[in-house]
Amino acid sequence: MERTFAIIKPDAVERKLAGKILDRIEANGFAIRGMKKIKMTREQAEGFYYVHKERPFFNDLCAFMSRSPVIVLCLEKDNAIADWRTLMGATNPANAEAGTIRKDFAINIEENSAHGSDAPETAAFEIPYFFNAFELV
Ligand code: PPS
Repeated sequence: MERTFAIIKPDAVERKLAGKILDRIEANGFAIRGMKKIKMTREQAEGFYYVHKERPFFNDLCAFMSRSPVIVLCLEKDNAIADWRTLMGATNPANAEAGTIRKDFAINIEENSAHGSDAPETAAFEIPYFFNAFELV
């Protein structure tokens, strides 16, 4: 079994799409090991995305991610990291496959509804960034 870290992003929570996205998560075989609704501070967002700090969209991305609540999740299944990224679809919804979360719900490359760890090392950083051991069940 593998764990990954996921976020239902502000654009999706604002548009009351969290339930639809959680339904897809469970229907696709993921166990929800951790889940909470939080509002990130700007500093938390900057720390979370520090690997992207030199990229031109860094400020806009951190402003977006801290503008309103998100739902953070720890998901578990075999091949969870790759399977969650497949279920989300491409970063830019214009390039996402039919039936993916981003194709169906995302607004644009910034307001793209969902996040997922891209590798085991990333998940190992991201899960404890938002969850302590008692919050994973
Ligand atoms: S990815 O998913 O990590 O492979 O994609 P990447 O292109 O490296 O993007 C990293 C995160 O930055 C977000 N992103 C953007 N935000 C705002 N504006 C623009 N133009 C933009 N391009 C990429 C992208 O959604 C990734 O965020 P997460 O939360 O990891 O999905």
